Amino acid sequence: MNRDKEAPSKRRGRRTDLKVRKEIKDLVSPDPNRRDLLIEYLHIIQDKYGCIDSKQIGALANLMKLSMSEVFEVATFYHHFIVVQDRTMDAPKKSIKICDSITCDLFGSEQLIEAIKGKNPHKELSIQRVSCVGRCDRAPVAVYGQNTIEHASVEKINKAIESNAVAPDQPKCFSFHEYGNANGYSIYKECLDGSRSVEEIIKNLSRSNLRGLGGAGFPTAKKWEIVRQQPAPKVLVVNIDEGEPGTFKDRFFLEKDPHRFLEGMLIAAWAISAETCYIYLRDEYAGCRLALQHEIDLLVKSNTFFVPKIELRRGAGAYICGEESALLESLEGKRGMPRHRPPYIAEKGLFGRPTLAHNMETLYWIREIIEKSPDWFASQGRKGRKGLRSYSVSGRVRNPGVYIAPAGTTAKELIENYCGGMLEGHTFYGYFPGGASGGILPASKSDLPLDFDSLESTGCFIGSAAIIVLSSSDQAKNSALNAMKFFARESCGQCTPCRVGTNKAVQLMSSENWEIGVLENLATVMEDSSICGLGQAASNPLRSVLKYFKRETQDVG
Ligand SMILES: Cc1cc2nc3c(=O)[nH]c(=O)nc-3n(C[C@H](O)[C@H](O)[C@H](O)COP(=O)(O)O)c2cc1C
Ligand code: SF4
Ligand code: FES
Repeated sequence: MNRDKEAPSKRRGRRTDLKVRKEIKDLVSPDPNRRDLLIEYLHIIQDKYGCIDSKQIGALANLMKLSMSEVFEVATFYHHFIVVQDRTMDAPKKSIKICDSITCDLFGSEQLIEAIKGKNPHKELSIQRVSCVGRCDRAPVAVYGQNTIEHASVEKINKAIESNAVAPDQPKCFSFHEYGNANGYSIYKECLDGSRSVEEIIKNLSRSNLRGLGGAGFPTAKKWEIVRQQPAPKVLVVNIDEGEPGTFKDRFFLEKDPHRFLEGMLIAAWAISAETCYIYLRDEYAGCRLALQHEIDLLVKSNTFFVPKIELRRGAGAYICGEESALLESLEGKRGMPRHRPPYIAEKGLFGRPTLAHNMETLYWIREIIEKSPDWFASQGRKGRKGLRSYSVSGRVRNPGVYIAPAGTTAKELIENYCGGMLEGHTFYGYFPGGASGGILPASKSDLPLDFDSLESTGCFIGSAAIIVLSSSDQAKNSALNAMKFFARESCGQCTPCRVGTNKAVQLMSSENWEIGVLENLATVMEDSSICGLGQAASNPLRSVLKYFKRETQDVG
């Protein structure tokens, strides 16, 4: 019996549509032995059709020898994949994404969403709220296709739609040739030719006090020592997921000088004997991805020194994939759900191999430290702190942006000496010292040195050094609610305290009068029993409001 002619109602499960199967095979050429490329394949389908439908999912599953549910659960996990039943019927309308995270919220993203709904001549337009897209210095931000619209307005958005401006802007970075002419890759070459030893490099990193700049601040040299002692084969993973609201420093470095971090990556891969380097770049940085792939191709093709295998991978709009074990799951082509520890990824990481994972900026500093000396780097800090920090400053300041300043610089100094002061008509009220996760401090605490560990007594942390400045026209309570909505949207759903707790907290925090006892209990449960840092830190802004801005939580009017 020809099964494909059988009526669907008489069969269990779904059949593969042979016409769609051929289309997908021609478009994607999926390799059933590369399950890890599933997300890349889904991107190719979505880029062509604007969505992914159930027949395409069935065809891809068939070609990759996976169950349809496996492909379906991956596709629906990531915000950037639009999964529909039948694309000939349910194909998405034109879609505009509007960032509604903390800084964009301060600069009117809600009003922009309402205005677009009211004044939009494009009847078929769908409006999608999205989490921080890493351009908080140009808030509010919208995205049409892969085109980022900074300081977005109804007029700018309509203009982009009318001119079908969907392509990303590709940054003009310091190229492979320019970097090479500026002594680029010379330290790496010295590592390869034996002029430098692994021990010497690790000793220098230890002396410089370089700590992981993805947020956790783990000493870099110590991490290298641990992974170095693990058995081969090993891998190196570069984390450029940069999803913490308020953070845009990795983009800043990528747009300017990608080879500096690539050289750091090659030195790290050499030091731990990694066979492959995986670079995980958030999908929102589409222009950076084009530029980076171009520069990697030039590096590999130059063929003047050994370069291990480098794979540049594309995220798909899930904040949780910045957490290193979730990132590894995503690189393996799965849903980005954090793993339980132990085992730690240094012992059993990507594909079960010992893995060294670093934030892009951590690797960026390696050449500088070796070239200029570890003491040069360590001596940059102030108030007993060591090193340099790249503070992403956004919010109510005159000149938001990334500022490279000594570790231990205070919020007051950043605002006054780097950002040109507060925006006209705004008085400093408070600030997030470490993005959505790091809590909120009042202006009265603006003299604290901003660095790892230095904010412990306040209940806050610096994380990825994303400083969001609030003024007296803002309410800390509103920004804390915004942060909680972000965590609820981005929770991977794996554990109940985080999945249910963040939504319950949103509900309670939306009230004029907060039920403080209930919120405190909820925060404790989330902190104590969530699997990963998202659930454990989600209550920080809420805790800060209760500690420093309590008067806002009761309607006294
Ligand atoms: C919820 C969550 C999100 C994270 N997002 C990022 C991220 O976007 N980029 C990053 O480098 N690290 C992120 N991290 C930290 C990583 O798990 C990891 O500590 C870091 O990439 C290690 O590199 P480093 O030692 O160079 O900092 C995140 C952690 C958590 C818990
Ligand atoms: S804490 Fe939240 S994000 Fe982390 S594993 Fe649990 S549900 Fe997922
Ligand atoms: S780009 Fe909107 S908050 Fe970061």
